[in-house]
Amino acid sequence: MRQTDSRRRFLAQTGAWAGLTALNPCERVLGAPKFAANPFSLGVASGDSTADGVVLWTRLALDPVAGGGMAPEAVAVDYRVAADEKFGNVVRRGKATASPDLAHSVHVELTGLKPGSWYYYQFSAGGWESPVARTRTAPETAGRLRFAFASCQHYETGYYTAYQHMAEEDLDLVIHLGDYIYEGGISKDRPRRHNSAEIVSLNDYRNRYALYKTDELLQRVHQRFPWIVTWDDHEVDNDYANDHPEDGMDRGAFLERRAGAYQAYYEHMPLRRSSLPKGSNMQLYRRLRYGNLGEIFVLDTRQYRSKKPCGGGLGAICPESTAAGQSILGAAQRRWLLEGLEKSAGKWNLVANQVMMAWLDRKPGPEMGYSMDKWTGYAGELKAVMEYLAAKKVKNFVALTGDIHSNWAADLKVDFARPDSRTVGVEFVGTSISSSGDGEDGQDKEQSARAENPHIRFHNQQRGYVSCTAAKDRLQADYRVVPYVSKPGAPLRTRASFVVEDGRAGMEKA
Ligand SMILES: [Fe+2]
Repeated sequence: MRQTDSRRRFLAQTGAWAGLTALNPCERVLGAPKFAANPFSLGVASGDSTADGVVLWTRLALDPVAGGGMAPEAVAVDYRVAADEKFGNVVRRGKATASPDLAHSVHVELTGLKPGSWYYYQFSAGGWESPVARTRTAPETAGRLRFAFASCQHYETGYYTAYQHMAEEDLDLVIHLGDYIYEGGISKDRPRRHNSAEIVSLNDYRNRYALYKTDELLQRVHQRFPWIVTWDDHEVDNDYANDHPEDGMDRGAFLERRAGAYQAYYEHMPLRRSSLPKGSNMQLYRRLRYGNLGEIFVLDTRQYRSKKPCGGGLGAICPESTAAGQSILGAAQRRWLLEGLEKSAGKWNLVANQVMMAWLDRKPGPEMGYSMDKWTGYAGELKAVMEYLAAKKVKNFVALTGDIHSNWAADLKVDFARPDSRTVGVEFVGTSISSSGDGEDGQDKEQSARAENPHIRFHNQQRGYVSCTAAKDRLQADYRVVPYVSKPGAPLRTRASFVVEDGRAGMEKA
């Protein structure tokens, strides 16, 4: 029997944990535990690269989907970082603490690395080693940036075949736009099953992240590239807005739920300490620089937004959506975004966004069907942002969007109600990794969507992701799709490609 197991059993039997923790919880770090099972069951990750550093992440979990299975004491985790895959040239070694307060997650913020460089890293703890993974610092100057963006990976509705293909791409980074997990309970007739009701508590959210993160294809993409992550609604509750839940939970209970959900998000993502949650609040919007080539504005359009207007469904752009104070960003984030865009020194202004910006009337004919959960529910603020881009001559504004489990490409207009108004940027909406199941090509639906919405350039309803190359003179977006996710192994196809030329708002078919 391993030392830790016998010790855990003894302590569990005698109930001595409470006494030990009460003595001095901060100083009890188990330096040399031995684990009977691999504690790196959730893989590793890295993210939020700067020119001289990156965040490394892992979480120790012996029994991942049942609370983690770790004893309630801190564990020392070793890490090493090398310039080569075989660890011949180790540039950093260190120790981090996996604390039970944060579900034995580890967030290491490296500094002092070389810009624009690949690094390899590995954790070890309790006699086990994590997989070797690689990551990359941001460059100071760069000729091109290759990245993919993805969203909506409902575990139950399909396999992560899109990630299998993404792992084979030549990328500098991956951007995830939200719905990394879904909070819902068991549904019938799904390709993959879990065993839980709708999640509410911190422990529930931890188990749900753990379930998703046991997926080998998802782990593979985290091992290959650094990620930049943001959340949408399902990391907490479908369609929530700030402190307004989807259904009738009271505000206090919902904020408690949100606090647990935000904490579990932090615990499972390669985020900096600046994002450590404080109660039911968490700082997630942030800006990352990619040398002279781009700035990435990462938005949080859930935590601060006003309540959905006009009943919250599909309808006309109503007066409430343009009322003063109706905001999807909140005042502080809006100020931060606009100031950042005005001062941006990057060639491309990439905006990692959740819900669609471009107006999208989903009802044919004179009837109007705009979603009040998207930026159209906050149409006054959307117009103010678009007008700001025009007034301040912000160049190369590229919104990267998720949420609606379908591919769209759209020109962004100062006034979407007037097709002849100025184009100030573009929006690429990427489909889901697996959410909504197999899907279909949907060419007929593209026709009707374009008839209702002249600024729409493309639509498709299959699963996949978008792969982008930003260079000095142009940015290209390639929509990659898989024909099915109900069983593994689907091939990948590039369904459409669009190009944005430097300094020219709007897109052309590549
Ligand atoms: Fe989704």
